Amino acid sequence: MRILNFGSLNIDYVYSVPHILRPGETLAATKMERFAGGKGSNQTVALARAGAAVWHAGCIGADGGFLREMHCEAGVHTEFLRTVAGPTGSTVIQVEESGENCIIYYPGANHRITPKQIAETLADFAKGDILLLQNEINAPGEIIRAAKERGMKIFFNPSPITEAVKEYPLELVDCFLVNEIEAAELAGADRDPAVALAEKYPDAEIVMTLGKRGALWQRGETRIAAEGFSVRAVDTTGAGDTFTGYYLKALCDGLPTAAALRRACAAAAIAVGRMGAAAAIPAATEVDAFFAERR
Ligand code: RIB
Repeated sequence: MRILNFGSLNIDYVYSVPHILRPGETLAATKMERFAGGKGSNQTVALARAGAAVWHAGCIGADGGFLREMHCEAGVHTEFLRTVAGPTGSTVIQVEESGENCIIYYPGANHRITPKQIAETLADFAKGDILLLQNEINAPGEIIRAAKERGMKIFFNPSPITEAVKEYPLELVDCFLVNEIEAAELAGADRDPAVALAEKYPDAEIVMTLGKRGALWQRGETRIAAEGFSVRAVDTTGAGDTFTGYYLKALCDGLPTAAALRRACAAAAIAVGRMGAAAAIPAATEVDAFFAERR
């Protein structure tokens, strides 16, 4: 079983600010840093640092060479990562003192994936392999359909959530990786979002993050929950991506669901204590040490 992540790669320009800007306000940042980001790339890096063999497919511009190098250093398979004309995807991220953020996203090369690239990439994968996908690239619906035709298992993180997501072939998704807002939006119901989403997609597993309260798994009426960890947040950017990569790796290792959720929560808790997205994702040994300290 192999894991393919068809996902975005971004250059994150991160501004540390006293508070997130209000409309019309001009505010001096106390720091500006450039980080490797993109929900797709972050999740791939999390998988690799967790110890998984992972293939990343996507597009960068000529300015995104450092993202390719970072993937190579992390041991990611990069033969399906294309360099195309135009700029790499980028973001402007404000991080306030509480660690909360807000993000402006410019897709750039992430929206230059072609039907040819999709076909060439998926040709290498087969029944039982896993496709992981987020919502920062073009053509996610086409990729889901083509991967399902090959018998791949579809893990979908509909982030950032948009109206267009509802038009994707979501009935083909095997596992939704969502936060509470995304679950409520997809379920379209004014009640427990994980229950509502599980009812809407009865064949799918729902994995829902709850911030510092932890995470839960839902299928039908069955729920498994894991508590989160109380840590001081410096920057929450990429915490959900770290969770996703670690959860998927734990699942592939055959960990019971509760243990997989808890390990993913621990990895995310470490990540929020550091600046940056990919830069903050811990290695598996750090997650082991985090647990050992709490025993
Ligand atoms: O999930 C965090 C990521 O969202 C950032 O790295 C940024 O690039 C945006 O895509």
